[in-house]
Amino acid sequence: MAVKELTVFMVCFWIVYSAAGHEFFSSTDQIAQLYGKTKDFLKVFSQCIDADNVETMKSVLLNLLLSYSDSENPEEAMRNPVAAYRLLRQMRNDLIFIEKHIKPNLYQCEEYQDELDAKLLEIPQLEDVDGAASGLIRLQEIYKLHPEDITKETSLNADEAYHVGLVAYDEGKFQHAFLWFLDSLDRLTEYSTTTEEELLHYLSSSAYHFGSLPVAIYFGQQLLNLVINIFAPDPSNDEVRVQLNWLLHLQSNPDIFTLNTESSNYEALCRGEVDERTSKRQRALSCRYSTGGGNPRLMYAPVKEEVEWDEPRIIRYHDIISDREIEILKNISRPQLSRSQIGKGTVSDFRTSQSVFLKEDYTVARINQRIADITGLSIESSEYLHVQNYGIGGRYEPHYDAWDNENERIATFLIYMSDVEIGGTTVFPKVGVALQPEKGSAVFWYNLHKSGTVDLKTEHAGCPVLMGNKWVANKWIHEYGQVFRRPCSLSDRE
Ligand SMILES: *[C@@H]1O[C@H](CO)[C@@H](O)[C@H](O)[C@H]1NC(C)=O
Repeated sequence: MAVKELTVFMVCFWIVYSAAGHEFFSSTDQIAQLYGKTKDFLKVFSQCIDADNVETMKSVLLNLLLSYSDSENPEEAMRNPVAAYRLLRQMRNDLIFIEKHIKPNLYQCEEYQDELDAKLLEIPQLEDVDGAASGLIRLQEIYKLHPEDITKETSLNADEAYHVGLVAYDEGKFQHAFLWFLDSLDRLTEYSTTTEEELLHYLSSSAYHFGSLPVAIYFGQQLLNLVINIFAPDPSNDEVRVQLNWLLHLQSNPDIFTLNTESSNYEALCRGEVDERTSKRQRALSCRYSTGGGNPRLMYAPVKEEVEWDEPRIIRYHDIISDREIEILKNISRPQLSRSQIGKGTVSDFRTSQSVFLKEDYTVARINQRIADITGLSIESSEYLHVQNYGIGGRYEPHYDAWDNENERIATFLIYMSDVEIGGTTVFPKVGVALQPEKGSAVFWYNLHKSGTVDLKTEHAGCPVLMGNKWVANKWIHEYGQVFRRPCSLSDRE
């Protein structure tokens, strides 16, 4: 195949793939998958380059390949949201670089053509990298973290910190923006693309928007000094002067360096600051082996049942799904994951995860049967098993599973398919309960009173994942068909 034809062919293919519009930041597993694919792709690609003619390209490519081989287990790396953000940004830059500078030099590649076609990748979009940065900012807000807290394990360079700052700035979160710009200024080196001038400008501007005027003025002056030094002897940067003069007439000084301590009950619960499980309350809670009221399938293998809360009654079942079953569920789900919605067809920051409703196959059917056995409810009228992987800073804000107008999700059975090292708890803000994800366990509660009205105490949320890769599976059981299993009552207290 001639060089030209090949290039045209590849470009077409590439574009078709990119246009498919996959989202990465809302599922850390998808980033890990892309990482593995990028590595494979680079390997084939490097074989493809004609050594005699593009020696420099080859060395660039090999270096690139090398940079993708330090972490053998991408899933492990994705535990850390900062590492996930970095990797996503890196992959976007690298793939764009390959497309621009390496691909045009490609020829004599026929023997690898099929393999390359099979491995062509989607380039993460700018929205993905912004979304990932936004996830980091959300983590900071909820867990009250300074940039230096969040980058302890994996640090960001000046350009990355600057980017996170810009995203915060665009979102109107000027305090966080300011702290990131400051962090970036600290890390500035001769290799940074970000300039000191840009940083000083944004430091001054974000401090101003935050209302911290002396700080705004300080950085404004720094900027002015810099500009004067650059353009001496004519320091007529009018814009900066005007801004400074105006600022001097205003007075207010919220402390931009200290993160605010006011927050909602939801956020306090996520941070583990609230625990309503007093000793008195604790005595009402219990632990036992259950056979689901004498269900034959559970007689010889009773489930470990733990009452996590009494009102609303929240029960934890331990060891109800094996690691192998979890692996199978993940494998089935991976290729089908897409951004989770709130309501029909709506995507929101309110919920950052990817999910799929799994049609019945052998494993799924077995799990569904187990849910029916354990809860004693009919799953005839339930939704498909809903598998979900969270993204960078992924969360689900407080919500009810049952909607007022439809009243159909009588109960929720939530299976934890992974442990989460820090964050990612399931919290019930109205009652002050936080449930820790524990791989292989599940929690169960009724969303509706026996009268059919929504139990308002069942409002719950998924806290942002601070460290770890969170997978869950939900089974929403519907009201229809439960007449004899959970009789109705007029009382709103049952
Ligand atoms: C899941 O998929 C991976 C990768 O394709 C494979 O190696 C593994 O054996 C699968 N696991 C199960 C339990 O099917």
